[in-house]
Amino acid sequence: MTQGVPTTARAHVNVALVKYWGKRDSRLNLPATGSISLTLDGLSTEARVAFGDTAVDRCEIDGVAATGEEAARVVRFLDLLRDESGQTARATVVTRNTVPRGAGLASSASAFAALALAGSRAAGLRLEAPALSALARRGSGSAARSIFGGFVEWRRGEQADGRDSIAEPLLGAGEWDLRVVVAITSTAPKAISSREGMARAATSPLYPAWVSGADADLAEARAAIRARDLEALGQVAEHSALKMHAIGLAARPPLLYWRGATVDCIHRVWALRAEGTPAFVTIDAGPQVKVLCAPSDAPRVAAALQAVPGVERVLTCAPGGDAEVLA
Ligand code: PMV
Repeated sequence: MTQGVPTTARAHVNVALVKYWGKRDSRLNLPATGSISLTLDGLSTEARVAFGDTAVDRCEIDGVAATGEEAARVVRFLDLLRDESGQTARATVVTRNTVPRGAGLASSASAFAALALAGSRAAGLRLEAPALSALARRGSGSAARSIFGGFVEWRRGEQADGRDSIAEPLLGAGEWDLRVVVAITSTAPKAISSREGMARAATSPLYPAWVSGADADLAEARAAIRARDLEALGQVAEHSALKMHAIGLAARPPLLYWRGATVDCIHRVWALRAEGTPAFVTIDAGPQVKVLCAPSDAPRVAAALQAVPGVERVLTCAPGGDAEVLA
């Protein structure tokens, strides 16, 4: 076993443009389909991991000791790091989110990507980016993508052990400047986790169509990113998001993450588009609306969303970079 040193790393949140929604293996977090995302600047997690300074695993998130399922998830991830590294000591984990507090945007993607990078170094491992992506995936599927900046594709993979289910960069953060404007419509804690949401999705008669349509959506998004074609990327991103939420409506029990303001934001963005502003909606496992647009249109999109009743605040994000070691 190599001796590790306490390490701090940072990773950014990512927003999926072609969504991951459904697993082929829930223990290993292997996805039923591939997905494509954009990593976002400004919304990130810093994680510090130190092995050997404590008799039991400890985890503090934004200054508060983690409890319950949140703490258990971190301990399971530390167990995985111990299995992979031969490290046997317990660890102290301290994470800090730069996501505005109470914004309903805290993300397991940035958290587990930062933990994978800091934790692997602290445990004495030096992993290349593909192996880091596979490790982050075990904490949270979408974390596989937050290892990289810019536009990222997470491949479904075919292997039963998930060896080939890793993310890779498509276009760096500096290679295509876009904006994602986020409308926060509720800061209440998430009611249904993405894990539970995906389990429900599998009961929906629309789920087989989702899986069989994924390769076409991925090809369309890949081509749009290669061509830096906002209209084409926006159209497929909006389609993927609305299809993902339609699955939930037809699930048993049904699942609807939207609130009234979520629907009003969708209509507002469609009205902007009809008036000539290329802006496209995507929505994850919650009620916030994320709008993809050109940098020059972002102030107009932000002002339009801020004026929708029920929108609590609006954030504008540029593409973000790779996960990195800070100290
Ligand atoms: O990584 P998870 O288990 O939190 O799932 C993420 C699910 C979505 O955010 C809705 C879609 C995605 O691809 O990120």
